Amino acid sequence: MKLLTFIKISFGFAWCLVMLFSCNGHMNMDMGGTVSARNVTEQTFSNPLAVPAVLDGTNATLAAKSGTAILGSRITVNALGYGGAAILGPTIRLQQGAQFNLTFSNNLSEATNLHWHGLEVPAKQDGYPSDLTQPGGTFVYQFTIKNRPGTYWYHPHPDMATARQAYRGLAGFFLVSSPEEEALGLPSGAFDVPLVVQDKRLDGGLVYDPNTNDRSIGMFGETVLVNGTAGAMLEVATRTYRLRLLNGSNARIYNFALSTGAKFQLIGTDGGLIGAAKEISTVLLAPAERADVLVNFGNLTVGTELYLQSNAFDGTESQGKQFFKILKFKVVHQVTDDSNMPTALMPVEKIPESQSVTTRSFDIGHMMQHGNGMNNMIMHTINGKTFDANRRDELVKAGTVEIWEFDNTKGTETHPMHLHAGSFQVLSRTGGRGLIEPWEYGWKDTVLAFPGEKVRIIVRFPDLKGKFVFHCHNLEHEDGGMMLNYEIQ
Ligand code: C2O
Ligand code: CU
Ligand code: CU
Repeated sequence: MKLLTFIKISFGFAWCLVMLFSCNGHMNMDMGGTVSARNVTEQTFSNPLAVPAVLDGTNATLAAKSGTAILGSRITVNALGYGGAAILGPTIRLQQGAQFNLTFSNNLSEATNLHWHGLEVPAKQDGYPSDLTQPGGTFVYQFTIKNRPGTYWYHPHPDMATARQAYRGLAGFFLVSSPEEEALGLPSGAFDVPLVVQDKRLDGGLVYDPNTNDRSIGMFGETVLVNGTAGAMLEVATRTYRLRLLNGSNARIYNFALSTGAKFQLIGTDGGLIGAAKEISTVLLAPAERADVLVNFGNLTVGTELYLQSNAFDGTESQGKQFFKILKFKVVHQVTDDSNMPTALMPVEKIPESQSVTTRSFDIGHMMQHGNGMNNMIMHTINGKTFDANRRDELVKAGTVEIWEFDNTKGTETHPMHLHAGSFQVLSRTGGRGLIEPWEYGWKDTVLAFPGEKVRIIVRFPDLKGKFVFHCHNLEHEDGGMMLNYEIQ
């Protein structure tokens, strides 16, 4: 019995070696979801957290370029950044209703564009995957800010290069506010901190070189960066902070929590503030999802150290098993908290299901294999199709309401599904978790479907005529073709 097991293991091991040497990393070719993500390596959390510069986008310029980024002590990599930053880009801050006007210059050696994730902008301004600015070129982005006050972001969106460009550093926050929001008296200035969390693979620098497994489950790194800082530490005062959490990773899901187990207040989701603060102790964010939270350090004594961490969760074979720390908070100042804890934030008007004119169903649980052996390519599909800029997959009418369902019942991987051109509401989730999470009740533009789940959303299409995309925001899946077109007419 024991001998037999030994033989089996040896045989399995030998077989792996054969595969490894003959195909170099192309094992498990059709086993999406059964491969494990790379684990996170614990940092020392001694590097001061970088906070991106703020850019007023009413009349701005922004250039993308490559340069040398310092991610922490002794970690220097070649990365991409916007607006003079060596990695990431400035936080664009604008008022609702303002006119956005930005001249973008492409100082990279490859074509790129900008997508305003979560914002309702005309099709020609949205960074459609084939609307590109060539190296040395410029493009003027111009639109009115229609969105509610909240946490949005921007990143490149070229077909089959989004994952690489975002991974190498291109992304930034886009924060919208309004006089109504300011009147709420939420923590502001230095107490309103955007936090973009991203995992990177730093052996050999910040190189984007996914193997077949990475293309299948997504690119996972062992080093977690917050605002581009590895092992980040933030000194805080004994008061309430507004933390704007953005999962800017290519594929990793985080189950955010505080190491003290303390509860915090959820005040906003992808599409802005919610009706009233909600007390939670964890928030699970897939790539591209955001959560606006209030964290109170007021009852802690100076000298206390605590962490923002990711708790293990019931995920898939590929991720969820590991607990790891993300960011250290160090309480250094004793102050009196002058921030307000409003009971009402901003009403979220529910879209009635009865207004829906049609239901569209999207099967997101299937993969396609192209080629075989060494040239094997895994394509994730939506309704069996992969992206084609010249095909119109869905046609919708401006102003109408529809229900879309993302069906991952037969799938083995997690898919955060994202729609361009505005926000939606989550109606239901059946299978898997079987519920709508507390952080999914506000406006959303990305919703996570675990294997076995079917998620229904309701959306009112804005009065923006043109062609937009919807896709999985696991960026390896997106670049692998898990993206379709829809036209608003
Ligand atoms: Cu944040 Cu189409 O993407
Ligand atoms: Cu988007
Ligand atoms: Cu996916």
